Amino acid sequence: MTDTVHEEAEVEEVAGVAVAATAQTAKHVLIGIDLGTCRTVIMSDQGKKALVRSVAGYAKDIISKGVVGDAPLFGDEAVAKRNFLDLCYPLADGVIREASERDYLAASQLLEHVVAMVRENEDVEVSGIIGVPARASMMNKELLLGIAQNIMKKALVVSEPFMVAYFLGKLCDCIVVDIGGGTIDICAMKGELPSAEDQVTIFKAGDYIDERLAGAISRRHPTAQVTKSVACKIKEAHAFVGEPVSPVRVTLRAEGKPMEFDVTRELRMVCESIVPDIVEQLQMLIQRFDPEVQEITLQNIILAGGGSRINGLDTMIAEHLREYGRIKVTCVDDPDYIGAGGALKLAKDVPAEQWKHVGVMFGGQ
Ligand SMILES: Nc1ncnc2c1ncn2[C@@H]1O[C@H](COP(=O)(O)OP(=O)(O)OP(=O)(O)O)[C@@H](O)[C@H]1O
Ligand SMILES: [Mg+2]
Repeated sequence: MTDTVHEEAEVEEVAGVAVAATAQTAKHVLIGIDLGTCRTVIMSDQGKKALVRSVAGYAKDIISKGVVGDAPLFGDEAVAKRNFLDLCYPLADGVIREASERDYLAASQLLEHVVAMVRENEDVEVSGIIGVPARASMMNKELLLGIAQNIMKKALVVSEPFMVAYFLGKLCDCIVVDIGGGTIDICAMKGELPSAEDQVTIFKAGDYIDERLAGAISRRHPTAQVTKSVACKIKEAHAFVGEPVSPVRVTLRAEGKPMEFDVTRELRMVCESIVPDIVEQLQMLIQRFDPEVQEITLQNIILAGGGSRINGLDTMIAEHLREYGRIKVTCVDDPDYIGAGGALKLAKDVPAEQWKHVGVMFGGQ
């Protein structure tokens, strides 16, 4: 994953959301934000969008300050200069770590940074919708709104998988499974705003796979040097479940030298380790639908989030639910931008005066 920013503007669609193709500077900009554990994505109604790794870096000492300056660095730039920086990943399991002031500051500076990336200039007012994990606590939503209050005029927080469903226009008879870095959020869509019982959060997602993969490869090949970040790169390049199409051989350092290792078995095992929980929660949620719509809902299971790129995951989930009848599991086309796209679409469709009926907000009348 690399940070990306798409400048300006005379476009009519950003990831499927129609936007104003205006050359004039807007006074008020609407935005959609997906604040994720791994990456923060923002889109504006002026056609700008950006994706930044959710990390802030602060100069370690006076010497580092001379190299990187006083201001915090964000995303890939922070990771690239990590030797000079203390890195802070402010979102754990998709929510701001409540106890830590440092995380609070980093989350707030990260939000300010991404908003600045799409804001035309300082005078422009920004309002928008921010996605949070399905079961984020009220305290965390309020914490986030507190941060947003310094940066935005009006802000609303809504659940992430709901934004995916909203983007797809699938508000009814559908289940969204958003497989992120910190959490897997599953949300049953029944034609109204999902209630707490319609949403589940599983705390075993991409980060969990990386950790387990690093451990599994180290056990199988004790000479290989595998950090969590190396494991993450292997996963992002080769992740799969089910029968391997071809062996996964990767080059790792062993005693300082590059060597090739076969990691097929380990990669398959760790990727498959998230399947039972997903299936169990789907089975639980499906029973809560009206029996008359269960059949159609089972053909409307949507996988989103970076983890939806695991090869074969859709097929494997469908196979596990075979006894329930005809099943269709589909992966979204653009897992990176769909959440922010849904938030922007919602912000544009629903007048800000009505946002209070959709979630927790500030700035409403
Ligand atoms: N091709 C791939 N195969 C498997 N996993 C992938 C792939 N590409 C990205 N990922 C993983 O997807 C996860 C990131 O997904 P996403 O960007 O949806 O998370 P997030 O929104 O930042 O996290 P969360 O929703 O938990 O807060 C990471 O663990 C990343 O390594
Ligand atoms: Mg996410």
